Amino acid sequence: MARFHSLEVTDIRRDTRDAVVVTLKPDAPDAEAFSFIQGQYLTFRRDFDGEELRRSYSICAGLDEGCLKVGIKRVDGGAFSTWANEELKVGDRLDAMEPMGRFHTELEPTAAKGYLGFAGGSGITPVLSIIKTVLAREPESTFTLIYANRQTSSIMFREELEDLKNQYLGRLSLIHVLETETQEIDLFTGRIDAEKMDLLFKLWIDAEEVDTAFICGPEPMMLTIAESLRKHGLTDEQIRFELFASSQPGRAKARTASKAAAAAAGTCELSVTLDGTTRNFQMEKDGTSVLEAAVANSMDAPFSCKAGVCSTCRARVLEGEVEMEVNHALEDYEVRAGYVLSCQCIPVSDKVVISYDE
Ligand code: FES
Repeated sequence: MARFHSLEVTDIRRDTRDAVVVTLKPDAPDAEAFSFIQGQYLTFRRDFDGEELRRSYSICAGLDEGCLKVGIKRVDGGAFSTWANEELKVGDRLDAMEPMGRFHTELEPTAAKGYLGFAGGSGITPVLSIIKTVLAREPESTFTLIYANRQTSSIMFREELEDLKNQYLGRLSLIHVLETETQEIDLFTGRIDAEKMDLLFKLWIDAEEVDTAFICGPEPMMLTIAESLRKHGLTDEQIRFELFASSQPGRAKARTASKAAAAAAGTCELSVTLDGTTRNFQMEKDGTSVLEAAVANSMDAPFSCKAGVCSTCRARVLEGEVEMEVNHALEDYEVRAGYVLSCQCIPVSDKVVISYDE
């Protein structure tokens, strides 16, 4: 199975000074593989000076738009995002993996749900896909979006959000919170902190009307919001997270072997199943991740951030014990079911059986 497919860039639209929206078209045989679920992301790869970089960007299109597009915000020092913002042009081709990610809930066309979304900066991208989709597919549902940015000029999809508000009159409420710009209502100026969350719940949001909350942004903001949501009565099942793209360092950090892994030094017999094929090999228990070992043994195992953020490298441990160093992507129930982020997984037992196909 080809892990990457070549997509044609059919449109590039500048959205803010440092963000572009790139529309992509798969070749006809790949069209089905690139049908997506709202809130999913694409992982791209490109060589920069002989080194392959992989980056994930969320799809910003709704299910009914009939196109595939992603928002790419330039990150300081980010090779891929800078290249996409400055050099990418219509007609170029980009290698991408099929859409991935579980930042969504099931659509229920007859339901009348209350959704609450929090987005910080480019974290709006998957949330926009969700907003467009649920408003179109669940005609009785409503959505309240609280969108944090530094200033008006850095608001991605500003016009599109206004248009959606007008199109879905009374069903989409939009609150911009701007860090450095004074607004008519004091509450909407500054950062989203615990105090502001309390006031939002007191004055604008009825927690009892919320069925699901989606949060996408930088980690500290997400943690503050999630804590407040719990405090105001939402359960963990009602809160969905996605860390946004610039949290992805993109290169594996130098790994320090944990105590458990160090104590377990020696070798591990690793069995890896990928695309229906199982390979067995020995790996050192020296802090090397299962993903690194699989790739070193010429397996085309999927990955992107290598930082425990994106979940592209998700696999399931069928036998043996591993230690997962960082997990920003898997839910507790997935971990309980044996799923791991293989980029963060270090073998502890002498034998580990893992599958990417589960
Ligand atoms: Fe992103 Fe492992 S590659 S979480």
